[in-house]
Amino acid sequence: MIFESHAHYDDEVFDEDRVELLTSLSGQGIGTVVNIGASLAGCRATVALTQEYPFIFGAIGVHPSEVAELNEENFELLREWCMLDKIVAVGETGLDYHWPEPGPALQKEWFEQQLALARQVELPVIIHSREAAKDTLEIMQAHRAGEIGGVVHCFSYTKEMAREYLNMDFYFGIGGVITFKNAKKLKEAVEYIPMEKILLETDSPYLAPEPNRGKRNTSLNLPCVAEAIAELKGISYEEVVEITEANARRLFHL
Ligand code: NI
Repeated sequence: MIFESHAHYDDEVFDEDRVELLTSLSGQGIGTVVNIGASLAGCRATVALTQEYPFIFGAIGVHPSEVAELNEENFELLREWCMLDKIVAVGETGLDYHWPEPGPALQKEWFEQQLALARQVELPVIIHSREAAKDTLEIMQAHRAGEIGGVVHCFSYTKEMAREYLNMDFYFGIGGVITFKNAKKLKEAVEYIPMEKILLETDSPYLAPEPNRGKRNTSLNLPCVAEAIAELKGISYEEVVEITEANARRLFHL
């Protein structure tokens, strides 16, 4: 069954129909979901979701755009949550230079702290990197991220950058963007990345694939992503689902 490696079902846009939606997933071929913490509140809600739904696992971390809320004290909370049974990764963490705030120095500081946390609690890391390719790679190399392991979520860089992450044995989260007409660079990268390193993800509620682009995204759209990858790789839809599920289980030790 489809393994959804990156969703934010704690988001308020799901408040209206969260239970209905989540309980419908398995009937639609979505077997497992990793819900990703992006803020302290999001991490708390992620823990709750993992306790409520057998098929939901969680990642604990604070998104680079949200790190201004972190301090030494509440960072300890993240560490405690990481110890819980169904928490399978640290993240999302990384660098996002699309928005001016918080500034790069603060983003880098908490990115490094979260990489150190992942190493300490022995969990893979989920990387968010937007318009910050060089700095992200430098920090990851400095922290020997290859020893930690993880996935670059919503991979949006070039084939050349993919090679750098492959050298660290990282996985690549591929989502709705692969279905966009203008995603030439990403399609080239996905052709290059070995199938054994690809995970399916949505980043729900964001980045819905064609033909639902612009609408609220859910894991129910993952078949469109799997179809697009199957076409690029010249393999069947079933193979994409099967291989990406095995990849995710290997990465998250499930
Ligand atoms: Ni995300």
